[in-house]
Amino acid sequence: MAEATSERPEGAAADWTIPQEWERYTAAEHAMWDYLFERQASMLPERVVPEFMDGLNVLRMTRKGIPRFDELSERLMKATGWQVVAVPGLVPEKVFFEHLANRRFVAGRFIRTPEQRDYLKEPDIFHDVFGHVPLLANPVFADYMQAYGKGGLRADGFGSLTSLARLYWYTVEFGLIRHGDALKLYGAGIVSSYGESVFALDDASPNRLGFDLKRIMKTHYRIDDYQQSYFVIDSFEDLLRQTVETDFAPLYAQIRNEAPIPTDTVLPSDRVYHRGTQAYARAKAEASGRFFLGKVPVSEPVKVAPLTTVQRSEALAALPAWTYDKNRRAFYRKLTFKDFSAAFGVMTRIALEAEKTDHHPEWTNVYNRLEIWLTTHDAGDVSDKDIKLAKVIDALAPQGAE
Ligand code: PHE
Ligand code: CO
Repeated sequence: MAEATSERPEGAAADWTIPQEWERYTAAEHAMWDYLFERQASMLPERVVPEFMDGLNVLRMTRKGIPRFDELSERLMKATGWQVVAVPGLVPEKVFFEHLANRRFVAGRFIRTPEQRDYLKEPDIFHDVFGHVPLLANPVFADYMQAYGKGGLRADGFGSLTSLARLYWYTVEFGLIRHGDALKLYGAGIVSSYGESVFALDDASPNRLGFDLKRIMKTHYRIDDYQQSYFVIDSFEDLLRQTVETDFAPLYAQIRNEAPIPTDTVLPSDRVYHRGTQAYARAKAEASGRFFLGKVPVSEPVKVAPLTTVQRSEALAALPAWTYDKNRRAFYRKLTFKDFSAAFGVMTRIALEAEKTDHHPEWTNVYNRLEIWLTTHDAGDVSDKDIKLAKVIDALAPQGAE
């Protein structure tokens, strides 16, 4: 989630890669990997798609300790021509896509601390390597990941990264797959999470809906909690065929003029495997004192009035940190934090606030820098909603972050 204009950290190569420095992992860090691995290994076999378990075996990931990227790459190279390379954290979108398009998977090299055992905001080596790498040993999935990288570079050119990112989210990160009469896991965000590995398959709360390319590219997703909807593919072959054989350009153009779909919605056109009760999300929302928005009709998007030029100037006068971006018809603010964690912490709090009103910022984050645009798509420009959100963000942004 970032732009190529930002600086890369010192010590990183032009393509943002860094050495893994495997020798520097402590015994405690290896033990953390083993703990997480054991916990997932004990319950995944009957839940995860068999190709994932095949990948763990082919890549010899069942051995103890944090894997070495050079060994993984050697085995992956033989299986599907992929490699695993280390990066300092989130990298600019283009760098990420460029690596995927060249069959290189970028992974974080740090591992979570004991306090972060069950919940972690930024992906660590366990998520990146245990979650993502096994399926890269599968030829069809490996091709999908490369095609996605090429698709990303193309989507960037159309200004449609948000739509494409949703496809990644609901397949690569949180995808389910049909397996005979049963559903199985394959998304990396699920298989690397103890709680979500159960929730995604067994809980009555979330929707489980048939894969629908355009519908997914219009659907919001949650970054702060378990998903409210999961999408089920028929097979990796089908996923690859549908995405490679579809020209996304006309879809992007249509989606730009259509309202996004909330995370919990079931549409009449959905192929429903399970209609979620949303009990989990509702209980969470009530517990945190949040107003649960429930179903929002999406067939008739509510039009919102844009601000007049005068209203806009008045609003900006009261929001000194913000400017108006004419091209994007959006309020714009840039923030610099102490480090990535600080940036990510504030982003998480902003996202939670945004969820309350279902009005979301567009942003790009590289390391400690965050750029934010606020606009209202149903108004085609800034509206009252953006003024409110700008105030919320100003309240959450630390003093001096400018
Ligand atoms: N077919 C997509 C396009 O036209 C590219 C793509 C393929 C994207 C596979 C994602 C996955 O842009
Ligand atoms: Co991931």
